[in-house]
Parts: sequence; structure tokens; C-alpha cells
Amino acid sequence: MVEEKTIKIVRATPRDAYALSVLTKEYFDYAQLDSAKIRARLENGDYEYWLARDAESGALAGFIDVDFTSVPGLRKEGDAAVLAMPEAPEAALPKQAKILGLAVLPEFRGRGIARRLVAKAAERARARDCIKIFLLVREDNEGARGLYEKLDFALAGALAEKLWNQKILLYAKELKN
Ligand SMILES: CC(C)(COP(=O)(O)OP(=O)(O)OC[C@H]1O[C@@H](n2cnc3c(N)ncnc32)[C@H](O)[C@@H]1OP(=O)(O)O)[C@@H](O)C(=O)NCCC(=O)NCCS
Repeated sequence: MVEEKTIKIVRATPRDAYALSVLTKEYFDYAQLDSAKIRARLENGDYEYWLARDAESGALAGFIDVDFTSVPGLRKEGDAAVLAMPEAPEAALPKQAKILGLAVLPEFRGRGIARRLVAKAAERARARDCIKIFLLVREDNEGARGLYEKLDFALAGALAEKLWNQKILLYAKELKN
């Protein structure tokens, strides 16, 4: 695919909280993240949001957000059933990055923007010494599953419990530094 030169991948700042809250409501309403919560994440180094922005118009084309606290986060969010982690002090556990949200606006889809956003998330995860990057996706989200499979993520399990009456799958990719 020809790289879209006018689309720049840039780190979000707290000033982007409102725009991100609108997109989050559109695509991940269940997450119940308002702009105050997103702003708090943007000010907290444990999370990174990256934007795809059209350099000519300034329009927001999409975003990805990544949680770098995933080892303790996994237990907190009850994912431990799918990722058996060894009993070890937290500091000794290998670090992993969790993609929390990824969306590209319909008019910008099919141009390799999600591919670039996921590549940026993986690049940041490597830079932060993570050994793995993973995400959860609804079984019926064939578009997202097609994307992750194309990007060499492997199906690594499923949550024991259904959420919103949907089976939730885990996709993961090992990262080599
Ligand atoms: C899924 C989504 C992020 C894809 O964004 P995109 O920018 O159109 O994806 P890309 O153009 O970067 O696609 C990269 C690759 O993934 C594959 N892919 C993308 N969308 C796909 C789809 N709907 N079905 C199958 N494969 C798909 C493409 O084949 C492409 O491979 P190619 O480059 O070899 O052609 C976008 O459709 C979206 O925002 N959906 C709604 C929100 C959502 O479901 N987010 C994921 C939640 S986990």
C-alpha cells in the first residue's frame, strides 16, 4: 500500500481530550470515558494516545490508545483467566502493552492508517521494553480481526465470561527488540 503522506501520526496531548472523547463515545461507548477521564490518561505516563491527523486539513482521521500498565492491569480487569502469569513480584513480571482502543473514521478507512497506528503502538511498546502487545476484540468484529491477523497478531485465547453477550477474543504479538 502506498503510504499516505498527508496523514501524520502524532502523540496526543491533553488538549486533544475533547476530540478523543467524541471518537471514544462513537466507537467505544461502553468504556464510559468522558473527556475528564481521557485528559487524566493523557497526563499519566502509563497511557499513550496517538492520533492520525490530516496535515492539510487538520482533521482527525483516527486514534490508538495503549496501556503500559498491563501486568497489574490484567489482574485488575480480570483477564488473568486467559493469560496465565507466573506468581512473581510485580516488578519482575515482563511488561506488556495493551491496545485499549483503535478507530479510523469511515472516510479514511482502507488507506493503511490503522496499520500505521498499530505500528506506532508496537514501536512505543518496544521502546518501553515490553515483550508483547495484545488486545481484546469482540468475536463479531470481523474487520478488526482481519486487520490484526494481517498485522501478524495471533489468536491467543478468549475471556472466560462473555461481555455484552459477546465472546471476547484475545490477540497478541511477541515483540523482538
Ligand atoms: C478496523 C479499522 C481500525 C481498520 O482501519 P483501516 O485504516 O481501514 O485499516 P488499514 O487500511 O490500515 O488496513 C490494514 C490491513 O488490515 C486489513 N483490514 C482492514 N480493515 C479490514 C476489514 N474490515 N476486513 C478485513 N480486513 C481488513 C486490510 O486488508 C489491510 O491489509 P492491506 O494493507 O494488506 O490491504 C477500522 O475499520 C475501524 O475503525 N473500525 C471501527 C472501530 C473498530 O472496530 N476498532 C477496533 C476495535 S478492537
